[in-house]
Amino acid sequence: MHERIEWASNHMSVLGALRKDLKKNGFLKNKKISMALHVEAKTAVLAITLASAGAEIAITSCNPLTTDPPVASSLSKVKGIKCYARKFESSGEYYEALHKVLDIGPDILIDDGADLIKLVHTERRELLDGVIGANEETTTGVIRLRAMEKAGVLRFPVFDVNDARMKHLFDNRYGTGQSTFDGIFSATNLLIAGKTVVVAGYGWCGRGIAMRARGLGADVIVTEVNPVKAIEARMDGFRVMPVGKAVEVADFVITATGCRDVVSAKQLLRAKDGVVLANAGHFDVEIPKAEIERLAVKKRRVRDHTVEYLLPNRKRIYLLADGRLVNLVAGQGHPVEIMDMSFAIQALCAQHLAANGKKLSQGVYPVPEEIDERVATLKLKELGIEIDHLTEGQKKYLASWEEGT
Ligand code: ADE
Repeated sequence: MHERIEWASNHMSVLGALRKDLKKNGFLKNKKISMALHVEAKTAVLAITLASAGAEIAITSCNPLTTDPPVASSLSKVKGIKCYARKFESSGEYYEALHKVLDIGPDILIDDGADLIKLVHTERRELLDGVIGANEETTTGVIRLRAMEKAGVLRFPVFDVNDARMKHLFDNRYGTGQSTFDGIFSATNLLIAGKTVVVAGYGWCGRGIAMRARGLGADVIVTEVNPVKAIEARMDGFRVMPVGKAVEVADFVITATGCRDVVSAKQLLRAKDGVVLANAGHFDVEIPKAEIERLAVKKRRVRDHTVEYLLPNRKRIYLLADGRLVNLVAGQGHPVEIMDMSFAIQALCAQHLAANGKKLSQGVYPVPEEIDERVATLKLKELGIEIDHLTEGQKKYLASWEEGT
């Protein structure tokens, strides 16, 4: 086993605490699970946990550039696991691996970004009848699935793992907050203190990034399209303005919107010389890479994950990680303890699908409350934190509408 997997496993106590039970209750035994997740050490621990519960696993990455190759190679040697993940050169190779993962004829899909689920509904429709259901890891995937549900094309139940409280409150906020800077630090080795950092999007990921940028000593500007979130950002103490104005003063622009074309190449012509652009959203559509390529008069790689573009006005802009997820391409993904909680939710949802999925109709489902609570309870135990419990009198008070003063 690769040391990075061992290290992660030793720090994933919630998933570790569930392992015995997942094996003992037998719900996952002989279930075929196709997975498309960023294949790195923490993901390997999830795959191994599911395999040790008797599931047959086929896994690849959900992004062409986010595989940790030694981890993938180690994973492919584990009994019960087929791993097709590589750092893919082309999008053709990436899709080929997704198809291979589906060739096992899955009972359950575990997806991050919904590419796998989309394939089963388009090019691999012959598999639809065999699928009990799926889990979706990320905001972007859930947005796609809700669009599929609305269009009436979604054919099986999908758990919205992203919106479980034990997922998004920690993974999207503290996970993205820390790992985005992990990626930026390793791609640039630049200082954040005293710089102006523009964070596009004030969802849970944007909040985490803005919070950490402030902690690192940056002057933080938030850009938003949602009026409520804009007010929240302002009352959290950040300046808020349109992206076109914000880029003019930015040293760093970090996108976390889940949407495309967040800043235009034309707006970037007015940016400061040397501005650094990084994306923390799932797809590489937030920063308009093709537009920048067309506009630039010169392009060169200046560090492993940093490309310099010289614009016609002689200003330089630096694009990190090819506009893909900076935290996974240039960094190591979310911290281990964060993915422990997210993947504990994934494992319990997979078990729930195996046990009860056939009773569910198609649609996007919230993660059952008991799963969130179970993961929270295990995490509290690991942290050695005790909390209070309601007395019978308090329960009665909360359940009653008559009792007031
Ligand atoms: N590691 C594995 N999956 C991840 C994700 N979705 N985000 C960040 N780090 C990860």
